[in-house]
Amino acid sequence: MYFDHRRRNDPNFRKALRREHRRQEKAAREEAEAQGIQQRQAIKAAMAEAKEEGFPTDVEEKEAYFMNEVARGEQLCQEGFANISKSMKPEIREDFEERSTMTGVLPKLSVAEFRAYNRLAEQMDFFVGVNRKTHNHFRRTWNELYTAASDGKQPKNMTLRQFIALGLDFCHSLTAHHSIEERHFFPLLAKKMPAFREELELLAQHKQIHAGLDKFETYLSECRSGEKELSLGRLKELMDGFGTVLWQHLDEEVKELGAENMRKYWTLEELRAFPI
Ligand SMILES: [Fe+2]
Ligand SMILES: [Fe+2]
Repeated sequence: MYFDHRRRNDPNFRKALRREHRRQEKAAREEAEAQGIQQRQAIKAAMAEAKEEGFPTDVEEKEAYFMNEVARGEQLCQEGFANISKSMKPEIREDFEERSTMTGVLPKLSVAEFRAYNRLAEQMDFFVGVNRKTHNHFRRTWNELYTAASDGKQPKNMTLRQFIALGLDFCHSLTAHHSIEERHFFPLLAKKMPAFREELELLAQHKQIHAGLDKFETYLSECRSGEKELSLGRLKELMDGFGTVLWQHLDEEVKELGAENMRKYWTLEELRAFPI
């Protein structure tokens, strides 16, 4: 009441209020400007650092670089999550930590540990090496073939022979990739990880993929020999026969090999000793 009366009747009081209001606005403006300058400086410094480090040039290197940065970002998010509890009141923290244990949240991994545990997932998706075809290669080639098949138009930069060869190379590489996994990779992982055991999830998916892939390969071979004329509509039908399970498999296998899952089964020493 008192202030309301003063506000209505005392011109000096009203002036002082307006002055205070302007002062606060100015301070807020200056703080925002200072933050902006700081942010710009931080961005400039980061850009200069990145320039000095150099940029990856070829596609595979760019992908590997990108994935590393994504993994680093995920790790930083996790660190943020782990620090949440420190800022809580003791009684809330207790409840939060209890619920975290109940939902299976493990202590955070350091960046180095995360990278070590995530190594196989990254290799599976983006391994850079001679004659090693990775999941990302399969996704890319699939998209190239499937776009042509669904648009009913062969890619402009290829002859019919080259297009058929691309399809056949996809079949051979994927078959080789799966046989290496089944012979050398899965038996090792299956010692502790159920998903890699015979007739379970991932191996069952391999079988389903190959049921469709074999038909796709036979058709392309017949087109290459001239026995059949290539129909893009038929090619799409054949790809639709195993596309869903293939994409599901490419993602699930990598997820299974991801750091947060691997750490549940393996110690870092065991993982480092993997001959892969
Ligand atoms: Fe794989
Ligand atoms: Fe696989």
